[in-house]
Amino acid sequence: MSAIPVSLLQQLREHSQTHLLSFWESLSDAQQSHLIEQIESIDLERLLQCWKSSIHPDQPDAEDRAEKARSPRNVIRQPATTAERKLWADATAAGIRELEAGKVAVITVAGGQGTRLGFDHPKGMFPIGPVSDRSLFQIFAEQILARRRRHNAAIPWLIMTSDATHLETVDFFRSKAFFGLDPDTVHFFQQGSLPALDAQTGQILMIAPDQLSLSPDGHGGLVQALCHSGLLKKMQQQGVEHFFYHQVDNPTVIMVDPALMGFHLQHGSQLTTNVVCKTSPTERMGVLVDLDGQTQIIEYSELTADQAARKDVAGQWIFWAGNTAIHVFRRDFLEHLASDGGQLPLHVARKNVAHIDEKGQLQQPSDPANPNAIKLERFIFDALPLAQQTLIVEGDRAREFNPVKNKSGNDSADTSRAALIRIAEDWLRRAGATIEPGTVVEISPLDALDAEELAAKLQCGTLRFAQNKITAD
Ligand code: UTP
Repeated sequence: MSAIPVSLLQQLREHSQTHLLSFWESLSDAQQSHLIEQIESIDLERLLQCWKSSIHPDQPDAEDRAEKARSPRNVIRQPATTAERKLWADATAAGIRELEAGKVAVITVAGGQGTRLGFDHPKGMFPIGPVSDRSLFQIFAEQILARRRRHNAAIPWLIMTSDATHLETVDFFRSKAFFGLDPDTVHFFQQGSLPALDAQTGQILMIAPDQLSLSPDGHGGLVQALCHSGLLKKMQQQGVEHFFYHQVDNPTVIMVDPALMGFHLQHGSQLTTNVVCKTSPTERMGVLVDLDGQTQIIEYSELTADQAARKDVAGQWIFWAGNTAIHVFRRDFLEHLASDGGQLPLHVARKNVAHIDEKGQLQQPSDPANPNAIKLERFIFDALPLAQQTLIVEGDRAREFNPVKNKSGNDSADTSRAALIRIAEDWLRRAGATIEPGTVVEISPLDALDAEELAAKLQCGTLRFAQNKITAD
């Protein structure tokens, strides 16, 4: 048995966390080292500050933010006139040139636990293809491969995983031969984790005698993880100037969207965000606003129903610009954030978290009205107010934003699959195809990335029709 390092013991005493060593004497040497390593990686001071703020939340500030917020500035709306369509075409051409020059990489954040969906594997493995059961990862991989071929571009793919998703994700890619991508161009990197705290006492929860109850540190853990992994440096060496960032749950994302990329370049933006118009003021979606002269996000939970329905002088909802979590980051902006420690603020959420009690018995609290713990997370959109130059570009909601979040109802696998079918039907019809009612259609990104490509291929007869299904592979 090893001795407990004196400085560690002192620190734990100062922060009332000595319970972490309750099982010390029953642990093997390896378990003791493992436990010490976990404890030493924690900033106890900071964690406890967050816990204190969760007991006395700063409510007036939240109200104040919503009251002070104005409609977002620097916005490019969907094109409605010929002149605006020309601007979009020019931006698309500029974005394509940047892709062809090899200056764009993709970041997929795939470290989340996907609790709402309740799927037993990393969410990227979820089968979403309406005909093929293609996984979310496969759709992204095929989009990237198709873009690489179309623009003769490298487009490195960086995938952020967490302790919760890493091994299975990497195994999945290996078992699928990286979906045809060169494995050297797909880079996995792991985000950090943070412990859950007992909501009443602020004590760190444990899940086993040698194991703290840890969970991924939020998509905002990206900045630190990217820097620590060495990938930020590596991308700089490869000539990458911009990162197209998206979440693992939206199969209809337009990967490395050339129009978004082009506007980002033309406006000299450090951080560009794709938004869509909220369907109703009360839709549960974070919105982009102008606050104290900065672009910021206000969470739906920060708005009262009255505030959410407020309109500006032009008669438009102030809080219309729903965040799709599709961003373009300039590499030097991420480097700037990383040089500052890369630590975005911590947010607190009350959740039920399993843990062992003082006797080592597993407890699984489940009262939704009184969650036992607080969990801490960083959000990537907290980078927005840190940028000098931001830009907001409105996307086509039906085409681009169909996430898989919930088990059923809105933003579920059913709605997302229906969107993939609707988009495929639309492209097929525009290409002159007739689709029998009840036919399920799906188009692989390898066959077409857009309606125009499909139309060109359909003329050449490269689509196969089988039974009552039309598939493109
Ligand atoms: P969500 O906020 O939807 O969380 O993540 P989630 O974990 O996927 O799902 P729930 O809330 O538990 O149901 C949005 C995106 O951010 C990634 C997710 O993988 C998803 O792509 N994410 C989230 C991370 O990469 N790391 C995290 O710590 C949290």
